[in-house]
Amino acid sequence: MNELLSRDDTSDRFGLEMIKERNGTEELRYGIVICNELPWKTMRRFSIQNLRQFGFGKKKTMEGVMLEEAKELISRTKENARQNGGVLTVDMFFSLSIINALWAMVTGTRFSHDNPRLLHALKLNSDLFKATTFVGDISMAFPIFRKILPWITNKAFLYRITHEIKLFAKDIHDEHKQRKDYAQNPESFVDIFLAKIDEEKKLPAEERIFTEDQFHFVISELFQTGSETVNGTLCYALLFMILNPLVQKKVREEIDTVVGFDRDVSLTDRPRMLYTQAVLHEVLRFGVIVPLYPPRAFTKDVEYKGLFFKKGTPIFPNYYSCTVSKSLWGDPEVFRPERFLSSDGKTLINTQKQAPFGMGKRFCMGETLAMPALFMYFTMLLKDLEFSLVPGEPKPRIAPQPSISATPCPFKMVVNAR
Ligand code: HEM
Repeated sequence: MNELLSRDDTSDRFGLEMIKERNGTEELRYGIVICNELPWKTMRRFSIQNLRQFGFGKKKTMEGVMLEEAKELISRTKENARQNGGVLTVDMFFSLSIINALWAMVTGTRFSHDNPRLLHALKLNSDLFKATTFVGDISMAFPIFRKILPWITNKAFLYRITHEIKLFAKDIHDEHKQRKDYAQNPESFVDIFLAKIDEEKKLPAEERIFTEDQFHFVISELFQTGSETVNGTLCYALLFMILNPLVQKKVREEIDTVVGFDRDVSLTDRPRMLYTQAVLHEVLRFGVIVPLYPPRAFTKDVEYKGLFFKKGTPIFPNYYSCTVSKSLWGDPEVFRPERFLSSDGKTLINTQKQAPFGMGKRFCMGETLAMPALFMYFTMLLKDLEFSLVPGEPKPRIAPQPSISATPCPFKMVVNAR
C-alpha cells in the first residue's frame, strides 16, 4: 500500500460525485484535501509555508497556545464533573480547544469556550463528517440515485452543511478585510491569504488561483480536518485509559518522574516519555482515526505489478486493514502500548508499521500540529486528573460513531482531581 500510494502517479484525488456536488463544480481545483494539479500544489505549499510563519509546527509557539488551552479545558472539566456528581460525559470534548490552538495561527484569534457561533460550526462539522462516506453509499454503485433519490444519499443535507461552514469562512474573510492594513502588517495566515487575493486580481481571471472561493475552501478545510481528527484521537485516548487502568497508572508514573509536580508539561519532555508516546501510538492504531484514506486516482496510464490502470482509475486505500493485520501486529485485537517499545523500554519501535497520517505526497498537512497536540493535552489531563469507569454502569463501547473519521460514541467517566 505504501509503495503504491507513495508514487507520483497516484497522488491525484478521485472526484466522487458527492464531493463534486459539495464543491459545486466538476473540477477538483479548490482547497487542498480534494483538489488536484496546480491549484493543489500551490495551496498546499502556500498553506504550509505561511502557517509556519505564525507558529504552525514550531514547538515554542504551539506549546504556549496548547498549554493555555489545556489549562482552561482542565478547569472546565473539573467544574463540569463537580456539577454532575463527579461524572463527565465525553462528547466533542476537545474540538473547541483544538480549533483554538489551530486558529491562533490561522486567524490570530481565540474563541471563548462558550462562543455559540463556534459551537454551532463545530456541531455542523461533526455532522458533516458523519454524513460523508468514501465508500458505503449506494450511489457509489448507482450514481443515478443521487439525482432521483437525493434523500437516500444525504445530498441535500451535505450541501446545506457545507454551505453553512463556508458562510463561517466568509465571515472570517469579511472580518479580516475590515482591518485595512492586513497586507502591510499581516497578523495571521488569513491576512497573508487576503493580500495574495488582492495581488492576483491583476491577473486575467483564468490565471488566478488565489480567489475568495479558494479562501473559503481552504479555511473550511482547515477547520474541518483540524478539529474532528484530533478530537476523536483524544476522546479514544481517554476511553482506552478508563478501560485499561494499569496503562493509565503507568503513564501517570512517567509524568510524575519526568515532569514532577512543580511545573507544566513541555514538548521538550517528549523524548524522555517513551511509554506515553507508545500509548499514543497505540491509541492511533487501536482507534483507527481515519480508517479509509480519501480516495486517490492514477494521474496517467500506469502498469503496476503486471496490471494496467487507465488514467483516472480510482484507488480506495483501506488503511483499517493495516491496523488489524495479524502478520504485522501478532495480537491486533489487544490494546498493548508495549508493542511500540523495545524490551528494555528505552527505544520506540514499530512506529513505521503504521501510517495514521497517510502516505506519499498527500501525507497529512496537520501532523506537525496533531502529534504535539496529542502529547500536550493527554499528559496535561493525566497529570491533574484521574479517570475511571462509572461504577454500576456498562462499559462504554469501543466501536466508533459512523463517520469518515473515527470518534467514540459519547461515554461517561468518573473524574477525580489528584
Ligand atoms: C490525529 C489527527 C489527524 C489524523 C489521524 C489525520 C489523518 C489524515 C489522513 C489519513 C489524511 C489523508 C492522507 C492521504 O491521502 O494519504 C489527511 C490529510 C490531510 N490532513 Fe490530516 N489528520 C489529522 C490532523 C490534521 C490536522 C490537525 C490538520 C489541520 C491542519 C489536518 C489537515 C489535513 C489536510 C489539509 C489534508 C489533505 C492533504 C492533501 O491532500 O494534500 N489534519 N490527514
